[in-house]
Amino acid sequence: LFDGLTRQPADPLLGLTALFEADRRPDRLDLGVGVFRDEQGATPIMRSVKAAEGRLLERQDTKAYLGTEGDPLFVRYLADLVLGPERADDPRLTGIQTPGGTGALRLGAELLAGARPDATVWIGTPTWPNHAPIFRQAGLSVRMHRFFDPSRSDVDLDAMLADLANARPGDVVVLHGCCHNPTGVTLTAAQWALVVRFCSTRGLVPFVDLAYHGLGDGLEADVAPTLALLEAMPEALLAYSCDKNFGLYRDRVGALWVQGATPGSATLVRGHLQALARSMWSMPPDHGAAIVREILTESVLKEDWKAELETMRGRINGLRAALAALHPALAPIGRQRGMFALLPVTPANVAALRVDHGIYMADSGRINIAGLRTASIDRFVKQLGPFLPA
Ligand code: LMR
Repeated sequence: LFDGLTRQPADPLLGLTALFEADRRPDRLDLGVGVFRDEQGATPIMRSVKAAEGRLLERQDTKAYLGTEGDPLFVRYLADLVLGPERADDPRLTGIQTPGGTGALRLGAELLAGARPDATVWIGTPTWPNHAPIFRQAGLSVRMHRFFDPSRSDVDLDAMLADLANARPGDVVVLHGCCHNPTGVTLTAAQWALVVRFCSTRGLVPFVDLAYHGLGDGLEADVAPTLALLEAMPEALLAYSCDKNFGLYRDRVGALWVQGATPGSATLVRGHLQALARSMWSMPPDHGAAIVREILTESVLKEDWKAELETMRGRINGLRAALAALHPALAPIGRQRGMFALLPVTPANVAALRVDHGIYMADSGRINIAGLRTASIDRFVKQLGPFLPA
């Protein structure tokens, strides 16, 4: 039965972690998978998360099933945080809990595949390597469009819109809400407005992936483009992850919101989301979402979480500024945002850095900024220097 299957390559990003673990050099650096790291290279559990977990242990009195939509209170409080109470009440919007941002993207993809099977999903390149497989596995066709200009290390909006001019009404455009993965580049407010106008005049449906909320310029600033988009567009989807901003990676905490053209359409969508979730995972895991709900409902915990998030953001942006100051080829990193930057290096350079210096990064040259250490950033740039353009 299974012998006819073709061999699957190992996931290159997740494989890096195993390679790193096997390296015993004391000054090795893991700049691979996107998890926050402190100056010691650890990914600690956040204080507010530990406190919420303690409260849960004390008070939780059942593990009985929740529904396919997960915990409605988690979704509601998260909507208040992300979208604001007014928009959270919009009857054209419906949201359900999902297993991480990936679950939200996949659920949205399945919804789209059922609603409009011939839609093409347009994704900017480069992007998170899992984006295209998620939509393809749901049976949708995917086309890539230009997005990033490596010569300027910035968004190439003209190229993006020229490629998207080939999209048909009803096609879907995947947009990173903030903290672009892997480039860190950000659309300016004016560029976002152009993209929104472009989508709205051509009848394209935006699907925003917001996985790093609060890790760019702050909770409000990072979500502002998404809110402007929801305001302007009749229909849109939003996949949200709490894995990074609450540090709950392995607990898989996310949500999907879908905005329909009318309240009736949102009700119809909700029924489909519940049925699709039922067939894929029945109901999402509760523990991480319960932690987020505790944090968001308890003002002391919420303030502490915000302070911790600010510290994380400060560390990332501080490392960005330090990198930018150390080499002209790294200067754009200072104005980019989020966990990642894309270095102008080849896969052969990446392999040499790994073998010679114990520096682990994706073959694309993507680095997790949070994996760097202030104490050894000079050494990192020195070892990287020979591979960078003058
Ligand atoms: C990443 O891009 O490193 C993270 O989103 C982890 C993952 O699932 O790939």
